[in-house]
Amino acid sequence: MSVSPPNLFQFAMDNTNDEFANPSDLTVLLNAIGSAGKFISSEINRAALRDIFGSAGSANVTGDDQQKLDVIGDNVVAEALLSTGLVCAMSSEENAGLIDCGDAAVTGEYCVVYDPVDGSSNIDVAAPIGTIFGIYRRLSEGVPAGDVDILRPGNEMLVAGYVLYGSSTIFCYTSGDGVHFFTLDPTLGDYLITEENVRSHGSSHVYSANEGNSGKWHDPDLNWVEHVKSEGYSGRYIGALVADFHRNLMKGGIYAYPGDKSSPDGKLRLLFECAPLAFIAEQAGGAASNGKTAIRNIEPTQLHHRTPMYIGNADEVALLEGFHSRA
Ligand code: F6P
Repeated sequence: MSVSPPNLFQFAMDNTNDEFANPSDLTVLLNAIGSAGKFISSEINRAALRDIFGSAGSANVTGDDQQKLDVIGDNVVAEALLSTGLVCAMSSEENAGLIDCGDAAVTGEYCVVYDPVDGSSNIDVAAPIGTIFGIYRRLSEGVPAGDVDILRPGNEMLVAGYVLYGSSTIFCYTSGDGVHFFTLDPTLGDYLITEENVRSHGSSHVYSANEGNSGKWHDPDLNWVEHVKSEGYSGRYIGALVADFHRNLMKGGIYAYPGDKSSPDGKLRLLFECAPLAFIAEQAGGAASNGKTAIRNIEPTQLHHRTPMYIGNADEVALLEGFHSRA
Protein backbone atom coordinates (compact mmCIF):
# COMPACT_ATOMS: atom_id res chain seq x y z
CA MET A 1 0.00 0.00 0.00
CA SER A 2 1.50 3.36 -0.96
CA VAL A 3 1.59 6.10 1.66
CA SER A 4 0.72 9.54 0.25
CA PRO A 5 3.39 12.25 0.64
CA PRO A 6 2.91 14.85 3.39
CA ASN A 7 0.53 17.65 2.60
CA LEU A 8 1.19 21.34 3.20
CA PHE A 9 -0.67 21.23 6.53
CA GLN A 10 1.38 18.33 7.98
CA PHE A 11 4.66 19.65 6.62
CA ALA A 12 4.17 23.14 8.10
CA MET A 13 3.14 21.63 11.48
CA ASP A 14 6.37 19.61 11.52
CA ASN A 15 8.55 22.52 10.40
CA THR A 16 7.49 25.51 12.48
CA ASN A 17 10.07 27.49 14.45
CA ASP A 18 10.45 29.77 17.48
CA GLU A 19 9.78 32.94 15.53
CA PHE A 20 6.03 32.27 15.59
CA ALA A 21 3.87 33.22 18.58
CA ASN A 22 2.29 29.74 18.56
CA PRO A 23 3.61 26.59 16.86
CA SER A 24 0.42 26.22 14.79
CA ASP A 25 0.47 29.77 13.41
CA LEU A 26 2.60 28.94 10.36
CA THR A 27 0.18 26.15 9.44
CA VAL A 28 -2.89 28.34 9.92
CA LEU A 29 -1.49 31.18 7.78
CA LEU A 30 -0.25 28.92 4.97
CA ASN A 31 -3.50 27.02 5.02
CA ALA A 32 -5.45 30.28 4.58
CA ILE A 33 -3.34 31.33 1.60
CA GLY A 34 -3.45 27.80 0.19
CA SER A 35 -7.26 27.80 0.40
CA ALA A 36 -7.42 31.15 -1.36
CA GLY A 37 -5.06 29.70 -3.98
CA LYS A 38 -7.37 26.74 -4.57
CA PHE A 39 -10.29 29.08 -5.10
CA ILE A 40 -8.33 31.35 -7.46
CA SER A 41 -7.01 28.32 -9.35
CA SER A 42 -10.52 27.02 -9.89
CA GLU A 43 -11.78 30.46 -10.96
CA ILE A 44 -8.91 30.75 -13.47
CA ASN A 45 -9.61 27.32 -14.91
CA ARG A 46 -13.22 28.33 -15.61
CA ALA A 47 -12.60 32.02 -16.27
CA ALA A 48 -13.94 32.09 -19.82
CA LEU A 49 -17.03 30.10 -18.77
CA ARG A 50 -17.79 32.47 -15.90
CA ASP A 51 -17.18 35.72 -17.77
CA ILE A 52 -14.37 36.78 -15.45
CA PHE A 53 -11.83 37.51 -18.16
CA GLY A 54 -10.93 41.10 -18.93
CA SER A 55 -10.88 44.46 -17.27
CA ALA A 56 -12.85 45.33 -14.16
CA GLY A 57 -13.08 48.86 -15.58
CA SER A 58 -11.01 50.35 -12.77
CA ALA A 59 -7.35 51.18 -12.14
CA ASN A 60 -5.32 50.27 -9.07
CA VAL A 61 -3.37 52.81 -7.03
CA THR A 62 -0.42 52.81 -9.42
CA GLY A 63 -2.63 53.23 -12.46
CA ASP A 64 -2.63 49.63 -13.74
CA ASP A 65 -5.85 48.51 -15.37
CA GLN A 66 -7.45 46.13 -12.83
CA GLN A 67 -8.62 42.82 -14.25
CA LYS A 68 -11.74 41.14 -12.86
CA LEU A 69 -9.53 38.38 -11.49
CA ASP A 70 -7.31 40.95 -9.73
CA VAL A 71 -10.34 42.14 -7.79
CA ILE A 72 -11.66 38.62 -7.07
CA GLY A 73 -8.19 37.39 -6.02
CA ASP A 74 -7.62 40.40 -3.77
CA ASN A 75 -10.87 39.82 -1.86
CA VAL A 76 -10.39 36.07 -1.59
CA VAL A 77 -6.87 36.33 -0.14
CA ALA A 78 -7.90 39.09 2.28
CA GLU A 79 -10.96 37.17 3.50
CA ALA A 80 -8.99 33.94 3.97
CA LEU A 81 -6.35 35.74 6.04
CA LEU A 82 -8.90 37.72 8.06
CA SER A 83 -10.69 34.50 8.97
CA THR A 84 -7.57 33.30 10.84
CA GLY A 85 -7.82 36.15 13.36
CA LEU A 86 -4.00 36.18 13.35
CA VAL A 87 -3.44 39.07 10.94
CA CYS A 88 -3.18 42.63 12.27
CA ALA A 89 -2.19 44.43 9.05
CA MET A 90 -2.42 43.63 5.37
CA SER A 91 -1.41 45.45 2.25
CA SER A 92 -1.85 44.36 -1.35
CA GLU A 93 -0.94 45.62 -4.76
CA GLU A 94 -4.62 46.36 -5.42
CA ASN A 95 -5.19 48.69 -2.43
CA ALA A 96 -3.91 52.21 -1.82
CA GLY A 97 -3.67 51.84 1.96
CA LEU A 98 -3.77 49.12 4.60
CA ILE A 99 -6.69 46.68 4.51
CA ASP A 100 -8.95 46.92 7.57
CA CYS A 101 -8.29 43.95 9.89
CA GLY A 102 -11.02 44.81 12.44
CA ASP A 103 -10.33 43.77 16.05
CA ALA A 104 -7.33 41.71 14.95
CA ALA A 105 -5.55 45.01 14.14
CA VAL A 106 -4.78 45.13 17.86
CA THR A 107 -4.60 41.43 18.75
CA GLY A 108 -3.18 39.79 15.61
CA GLU A 109 0.52 38.90 15.55
CA TYR A 110 1.29 38.95 11.81
CA CYS A 111 1.36 41.38 8.91
CA VAL A 112 0.89 40.16 5.35
CA VAL A 113 1.89 41.77 2.05
CA TYR A 114 0.62 40.22 -1.17
CA ASP A 115 0.06 40.48 -4.88
CA PRO A 116 -3.14 38.47 -5.44
CA VAL A 117 -2.72 37.96 -9.19
CA ASP A 118 0.76 38.68 -10.52
CA GLY A 119 1.12 38.84 -14.30
CA SER A 120 -2.41 40.10 -14.97
CA SER A 121 -1.74 40.56 -18.68
CA ASN A 122 -1.54 36.76 -18.95
CA ILE A 123 -5.02 36.21 -17.53
CA ASP A 124 -7.00 36.46 -20.75
CA VAL A 125 -4.68 34.17 -22.70
CA ALA A 126 -4.59 31.20 -20.31
CA ALA A 127 -0.86 31.74 -19.61
CA PRO A 128 0.69 31.31 -16.13
CA ILE A 129 0.00 33.79 -13.32
CA GLY A 130 0.43 33.59 -9.55
CA THR A 131 -0.22 34.89 -6.04
CA ILE A 132 2.86 36.19 -4.17
CA PHE A 133 2.96 36.80 -0.40
CA GLY A 134 5.23 37.74 2.48
CA ILE A 135 4.57 37.58 6.23
CA TYR A 136 6.16 39.66 9.02
CA ARG A 137 5.75 39.42 12.81
CA ARG A 138 4.25 42.68 14.09
CA LEU A 139 6.42 45.30 15.79
CA SER A 140 3.82 47.50 17.51
CA GLU A 141 1.99 46.37 20.66
CA GLY A 142 -1.42 47.21 22.14
CA VAL A 143 -2.44 49.59 19.33
CA PRO A 144 -3.90 48.97 15.87
CA ALA A 145 -1.06 47.89 13.60
CA GLY A 146 -0.01 50.48 11.04
CA ASP A 147 2.58 51.37 8.44
CA VAL A 148 5.41 50.83 10.93
CA ASP A 149 4.53 47.11 10.98
CA ILE A 150 4.49 46.77 7.19
CA LEU A 151 7.07 49.22 5.82
CA ARG A 152 9.99 46.93 6.55
CA PRO A 153 12.84 45.44 4.55
CA GLY A 154 12.59 41.89 3.27
CA ASN A 155 15.30 40.72 5.65
CA GLU A 156 12.71 40.99 8.47
CA MET A 157 10.24 38.71 6.67
CA LEU A 158 9.32 35.46 8.47
CA VAL A 159 7.70 33.65 5.57
CA ALA A 160 7.48 34.20 1.83
CA GLY A 161 5.83 32.21 -0.89
CA TYR A 162 3.74 32.03 -4.00
CA VAL A 163 1.01 29.99 -5.61
CA LEU A 164 1.72 29.48 -9.30
CA TYR A 165 -1.28 28.79 -11.54
CA GLY A 166 0.29 27.07 -14.53
CA SER A 167 0.02 23.65 -16.13
CA SER A 168 -0.32 22.58 -12.51
CA THR A 169 -0.88 24.65 -9.37
CA ILE A 170 2.26 24.85 -7.23
CA PHE A 171 2.46 26.23 -3.70
CA CYS A 172 6.01 27.33 -2.81
CA TYR A 173 7.13 28.71 0.53
CA THR A 174 10.10 29.37 2.78
CA SER A 175 10.09 30.17 6.48
CA GLY A 176 13.86 30.63 6.52
CA ASP A 177 14.66 26.95 6.48
CA GLY A 178 14.82 26.08 2.79
CA VAL A 179 12.31 26.34 -0.04
CA HIS A 180 9.60 23.74 -0.51
CA PHE A 181 7.21 22.96 -3.37
CA PHE A 182 3.76 21.41 -3.04
CA THR A 183 1.53 20.48 -5.97
CA LEU A 184 -2.24 20.79 -5.81
CA ASP A 185 -3.87 17.42 -6.44
CA PRO A 186 -7.23 18.63 -7.78
CA THR A 187 -8.92 15.30 -7.09
CA LEU A 188 -7.92 15.36 -3.41
CA GLY A 189 -8.13 19.15 -3.13
CA ASP A 190 -4.82 19.02 -1.27
CA TYR A 191 -1.29 20.37 -1.76
CA LEU A 192 1.15 17.43 -1.59
CA ILE A 193 4.88 17.92 -1.22
CA THR A 194 6.75 17.44 -4.49
CA GLU A 195 10.17 18.95 -3.67
CA GLU A 196 11.81 19.69 -0.33
CA ASN A 197 14.82 22.02 0.01
CA VAL A 198 14.74 23.22 -3.58
CA ARG A 199 18.11 24.55 -4.78
CA SER A 200 18.44 27.27 -7.40
CA HIS A 201 19.52 25.68 -10.66
CA GLY A 202 23.04 26.43 -11.90
CA SER A 203 23.54 29.02 -14.60
CA SER A 204 21.89 27.88 -17.83
CA HIS A 205 22.64 30.94 -19.91
CA VAL A 206 19.03 32.09 -19.90
CA TYR A 207 17.81 35.66 -19.40
CA SER A 208 14.24 36.86 -18.91
CA ALA A 209 13.62 40.53 -19.65
CA ASN A 210 11.25 42.70 -21.66
CA GLU A 211 13.88 43.69 -24.20
CA GLY A 212 11.29 45.73 -26.06
CA ASN A 213 12.03 48.40 -23.44
CA SER A 214 15.78 48.40 -24.17
CA GLY A 215 15.52 51.67 -26.12
CA LYS A 216 14.97 53.34 -22.73
CA TRP A 217 17.54 51.28 -20.76
CA HIS A 218 20.69 52.78 -19.25
CA ASP A 219 24.17 51.75 -20.43
CA PRO A 220 24.89 49.10 -17.73
CA ASP A 221 21.79 47.15 -18.72
CA LEU A 222 22.41 47.62 -22.45
CA ASN A 223 26.01 46.47 -22.04
CA TRP A 224 24.91 43.48 -19.97
CA VAL A 225 22.29 42.34 -22.48
CA GLU A 226 24.74 42.72 -25.39
CA HIS A 227 27.25 40.65 -23.38
CA VAL A 228 24.85 37.80 -22.60
CA LYS A 229 23.68 37.69 -26.22
CA SER A 230 27.29 37.57 -27.43
CA GLU A 231 27.76 34.61 -25.06
CA GLY A 232 24.86 32.78 -26.71
CA TYR A 233 22.27 33.10 -23.90
CA SER A 234 18.64 32.24 -24.69
CA GLY A 235 15.82 34.65 -23.96
CA ARG A 236 12.76 33.30 -22.10
CA TYR A 237 10.08 35.81 -21.05
CA ILE A 238 6.61 34.75 -19.94
CA GLY A 239 5.63 38.25 -18.80
CA ALA A 240 4.54 37.14 -15.32
CA LEU A 241 7.32 37.63 -12.79
CA VAL A 242 6.23 34.70 -10.63
CA ALA A 243 6.25 32.34 -13.62
CA ASP A 244 9.58 33.57 -14.99
CA PHE A 245 11.06 33.33 -11.48
CA HIS A 246 9.77 29.79 -10.97
CA ARG A 247 11.08 28.60 -14.33
CA ASN A 248 14.52 30.11 -13.69
CA LEU A 249 14.61 28.67 -10.17
CA MET A 250 14.05 25.20 -11.60
CA LYS A 251 16.01 25.50 -14.85
CA GLY A 252 18.55 28.28 -14.25
CA GLY A 253 18.71 31.86 -15.44
CA ILE A 254 18.17 35.46 -14.41
CA TYR A 255 15.06 37.67 -14.54
CA ALA A 256 15.70 41.39 -15.07
CA TYR A 257 13.34 44.35 -14.81
CA PRO A 258 15.65 47.42 -14.84
CA GLY A 259 14.86 51.01 -14.09
CA ASP A 260 14.97 53.02 -17.30
CA LYS A 261 14.94 56.58 -18.61
CA SER A 262 11.18 56.98 -18.23
CA SER A 263 10.76 54.84 -15.07
CA PRO A 264 13.93 55.19 -12.97
CA ASP A 265 12.58 52.80 -10.31
CA GLY A 266 11.36 50.23 -12.80
CA LYS A 267 7.93 48.66 -12.55
CA LEU A 268 7.98 46.01 -9.83
CA ARG A 269 6.73 46.56 -6.27
CA LEU A 270 9.25 45.97 -3.51
CA LEU A 271 6.80 44.77 -0.86
CA PHE A 272 4.33 42.71 -2.86
CA GLU A 273 6.61 41.12 -5.47
CA CYS A 274 10.34 41.69 -5.01
CA ALA A 275 11.03 41.14 -1.30
CA PRO A 276 9.10 37.82 -1.03
CA LEU A 277 10.72 36.39 -4.18
CA ALA A 278 14.15 37.64 -3.02
CA PHE A 279 13.72 35.72 0.26
CA ILE A 280 12.88 32.56 -1.69
CA ALA A 281 15.78 33.09 -4.13
CA GLU A 282 18.29 33.48 -1.29
CA GLN A 283 16.93 30.49 0.60
CA ALA A 284 17.44 28.41 -2.55
CA GLY A 285 21.04 29.63 -2.97
CA GLY A 286 20.23 32.32 -5.54
CA ALA A 287 20.29 36.12 -5.25
CA ALA A 288 18.24 39.26 -5.89
CA SER A 289 19.59 42.77 -6.36
CA ASN A 290 18.58 46.20 -7.61
CA GLY A 291 21.93 46.30 -9.43
CA LYS A 292 23.89 47.55 -6.44
CA THR A 293 22.09 46.45 -3.26
CA ALA A 294 20.45 43.20 -2.18
CA ILE A 295 16.68 43.54 -2.56
CA ARG A 296 16.13 42.28 0.99
CA ASN A 297 18.16 45.19 2.41
CA ILE A 298 16.07 47.91 0.78
CA GLU A 299 13.87 49.87 3.24
CA PRO A 300 10.47 50.62 1.68
CA THR A 301 9.49 54.27 1.94
CA GLN A 302 5.86 53.69 0.91
CA LEU A 303 3.52 50.73 0.42
CA HIS A 304 3.82 50.88 -3.37
CA HIS A 305 7.59 51.45 -3.42
CA ARG A 306 9.01 50.31 -6.78
CA THR A 307 12.48 49.01 -7.47
CA PRO A 308 14.54 47.67 -10.36
CA MET A 309 15.17 43.97 -9.80
CA TYR A 310 17.57 41.30 -11.08
CA ILE A 311 16.83 37.87 -9.56
CA GLY A 312 17.83 34.26 -10.04
CA ASN A 313 21.07 32.33 -10.21
CA ALA A 314 23.66 33.96 -7.90
CA ASP A 315 26.48 33.97 -10.49
CA GLU A 316 24.22 35.60 -13.07
CA VAL A 317 23.14 38.30 -10.60
CA ALA A 318 26.82 38.93 -9.69
CA LEU A 319 27.67 39.25 -13.40
CA LEU A 320 24.91 41.83 -13.85
CA GLU A 321 26.02 43.75 -10.74
CA GLY A 322 29.52 43.92 -12.28
CA PHE A 323 28.11 45.93 -15.20
CA HIS A 324 26.41 48.32 -12.73
CA SER A 325 29.46 48.77 -10.50
CA ARG A 326 31.62 49.69 -13.51
CA ALA A 327 29.13 52.40 -14.57
O1 F6P B 1 4.50 43.67 -12.02
C1 F6P B 1 3.66 43.04 -12.77
C2 F6P B 1 4.18 42.31 -13.98
O2 F6P B 1 3.02 41.82 -14.61
C3 F6P B 1 5.17 41.18 -13.72
O3 F6P B 1 4.55 40.02 -13.27
C4 F6P B 1 5.79 40.99 -15.07
O4 F6P B 1 7.04 40.36 -15.05
C5 F6P B 1 5.86 42.40 -15.56
O5 F6P B 1 4.86 43.15 -14.90
C6 F6P B 1 5.63 42.48 -17.04
O6 F6P B 1 5.80 43.78 -17.43
P1 F6P B 1 5.95 44.18 -18.99
O7 F6P B 1 4.61 43.92 -19.58
O8 F6P B 1 6.33 45.60 -18.96
O9 F6P B 1 7.00 43.29 -19.58
